Amino acid sequence: MPGPGPVLTGRGWIRTILAPFLFPELRPEAQMSSRPLAVICLAAGLGKRTKVSMPKVLLPLCGRTLAEHALRAAAELEPARTVVVLHNQMEKVQAELAKSLFGRFSEIAYVDQGEPKGTGHAVQVGMQALDGFVGDVVVIYGDMPLMTAATLRQLVALRSEAACSALTAFPEDPHGFGRILRDGTGRFVGIREQKDCSPDEASIDEVNCGFYCFDSEKLRPALARLQPNNAQGEYYLTDVIADFVAAGEVLPTLVAEDLDEVLGVNSLADLAVVQALMQERILLRHLDNGVLIVDPGATWIDDDVEIGRDTKILPGTVLAKGCRIGSGCEVGPFAHLRAGTVLEDGAAVGNFVEAKKAHLGSGAKAKHLTYLGDAEVGANANIGCGTITANYDGVNKHRTKIGARAFIGSGTVLCAPVEVGEDAMTAAGAVVKPGTVIDPQQLWLGVPARYLRQRELPPRKGGARDGGQKA
Ligand code: UD1
Ligand code: CA
Repeated sequence: MPGPGPVLTGRGWIRTILAPFLFPELRPEAQMSSRPLAVICLAAGLGKRTKVSMPKVLLPLCGRTLAEHALRAAAELEPARTVVVLHNQMEKVQAELAKSLFGRFSEIAYVDQGEPKGTGHAVQVGMQALDGFVGDVVVIYGDMPLMTAATLRQLVALRSEAACSALTAFPEDPHGFGRILRDGTGRFVGIREQKDCSPDEASIDEVNCGFYCFDSEKLRPALARLQPNNAQGEYYLTDVIADFVAAGEVLPTLVAEDLDEVLGVNSLADLAVVQALMQERILLRHLDNGVLIVDPGATWIDDDVEIGRDTKILPGTVLAKGCRIGSGCEVGPFAHLRAGTVLEDGAAVGNFVEAKKAHLGSGAKAKHLTYLGDAEVGANANIGCGTITANYDGVNKHRTKIGARAFIGSGTVLCAPVEVGEDAMTAAGAVVKPGTVIDPQQLWLGVPARYLRQRELPPRKGGARDGGQKA
């Protein structure tokens, strides 16, 4: 058989030209819809199946809560208005989201659904909070954290003039999902919940993912007509589809390309699955940026961690949200960098080093068995094996300041607040008392540490010296 000849190629070319006319959603102006957009995030469910006391949507996922992930994706669409529908432990969820989403939305409202009576009821409540709004209404979920802005944008573009566009999928096991009903011509005519399915309907393999973009003006009256006459006695949002179709609407559907995006979290087992997928996304992003992650399967990096190019991350490393790591650094193996840790270019932390709110200047090194908490370490300082900044006196946390090129001998305990000047040195095993200021270039030793003499400075590229383990 001949391969596709020039005629076919030509037809493809014509299709490209005609596409915006045949498929209005592909028109550039439709893709960059200037129509006002609102987001309703449903998060009032009980989340009983997680069996933990915290509200489900606040479960942690790579340094953010589930709901924060979901809402951050929606924020990329720059909605004019956003409504989060809550009920269960509302104050707690609202306070947490208000903090973590600060400044991301032009306008965000938190509303109480009251006793949750179904997704249709939740969106009714959401629409009340969107009083006076006219435009696209995108529905998302606080327990579906892998949804991306790109897919939501496609859903918005696809709606065009229709009452609604809906996201569908073909999962391996459709059980539990609402099924997509189509007529003989393939037209989308309704959604049937699992519990209301006839055996024939239950054999349908296309399911409703729960994400939609609605025309606000067509949604309002359809919501008002919802009735809870179904197996669960709930107001189903999904019933608006048949309502639209009865009014002669043709409703476009988008098949989710990436099934991961529509995974929801109902249990801690689901959370573990979603966590692995989110972790993979984060690791791939850093790998794409030129970060050398030696064993991605044994490396845990939260969202909101910055890492520069040519930095090497060795196995067993945990990098918490908010860490900022420069380029050409080395981290691990088995390093734990907690919130607020900064490594400037070329800094290195090695095995069994924990850092919290620590700032390491460029070229600073702490390569073995060290705790650096609330500490500032100057450029090219060398922190010997077993150094501890004792930052906590049982009541308050105190800071330790170590100057550039200082040399902290092995096993030194710096009982904060402590200041170690530039080029200063502590001998191995020194215990520096709280409130001590070690002036530049001084050498201190002992327990408690006291001044011994001025330190003889090594040539700038020196190696190991007295009292220290080479870092
Ligand atoms: C829903 C869809 C189903 C779809 C599935 C995809 C309906 C009726 N069914 O079913 O077609 O296949 O999602 O995951 O919409 N919520 C509230 N208030 C309520 C009820 C629910 O905020 O009164 C929130 C829940 O917290 C949850 C989400 O809405 O985040 C979905 O609710 P849930 O009852 O789990 O819907 P499903 O039965 O999964
Ligand atoms: Ca349900």
